[in-house]
Amino acid sequence: MIIIVHGGAGKIPEEDLEDRKSVLTEAATQGLEKDDPLKAVEKAVRILENDPLFNAGYGGSLQLDGKARLDAAIMRSDLSAGGVINVEGIKNPITLANGVRRKTPHVLLQGEGALELARNLDLEMADETRSPKARKKWEDLMNDLSGLSYLEKLEKLAESKEGHDTVGAVALEGEVLAAGTSTGGVSTQMKGRVGDSPIIGSGLYCNEHGAVSTTGIGEAIIKVNLARELVYRIEGGLNVQEAAETAISRLDRSTGSRAGLIVLDSKGEVGTAYNTRDMQYVVKEDSGLA
Ligand code: GLY
Repeated sequence: MIIIVHGGAGKIPEEDLEDRKSVLTEAATQGLEKDDPLKAVEKAVRILENDPLFNAGYGGSLQLDGKARLDAAIMRSDLSAGGVINVEGIKNPITLANGVRRKTPHVLLQGEGALELARNLDLEMADETRSPKARKKWEDLMNDLSGLSYLEKLEKLAESKEGHDTVGAVALEGEVLAAGTSTGGVSTQMKGRVGDSPIIGSGLYCNEHGAVSTTGIGEAIIKVNLARELVYRIEGGLNVQEAAETAISRLDRSTGSRAGLIVLDSKGEVGTAYNTRDMQYVVKEDSGLA
């Protein structure tokens, strides 16, 4: 098995770098202990969702009304896929996304319908209170926006889209690939906003040629279908690292936006690319011997 995990491509405070790297390493290590790439991806992403240092699950950014509504999706190389959009009060959105994949005839569920599935699968619910760090960011934003009308607030939000610390993982075992992505969105976002992370082809993609997880400003990533775009390049014969770099350059040229990604192809070749200052990721591989 080979696994790559990432912790997003946002600005990482210097003091968090080492702690984040340890959590990413732990996530990759525990993922590697699974016997299947899909389970490996789910396990690794759950660990990142449970850690307040990352913008997903517990550490997920809040929307303008002070609520965390989380997005996640998971996909396997047989094209089976599941995702959840704007779910509240779920401890591990990636596991609910996998529930959508395994148990429903659909690919995406949102809001109350997704919660109904979570209750029926007996998934762990989360405390309403999100991480103090996410709450503090929201309180600072509220101070900046205070006194503005709804439409004035939207104008201000358009000026700054921050917080692309989305998490994700890709894995390969034998001929099976898997990819997963989970996020709290960006740190300045309207109630109900949906980014790229749960959108198949944008925040992630996985087929028999490649598995990709992306991070960055969702509004830009959606416009270029970043993850699918990259796998098309691999299908066209480009080597994985070159395909990764070309996909990021294309996003940069077309949208002027910033993003990062991790990718594995069916031969276990690794690619990573980003046009942000930072993107932390960890690659781990076992010998394949039982
Ligand atoms: N990439 C995370 C988001 O824009 O929601």
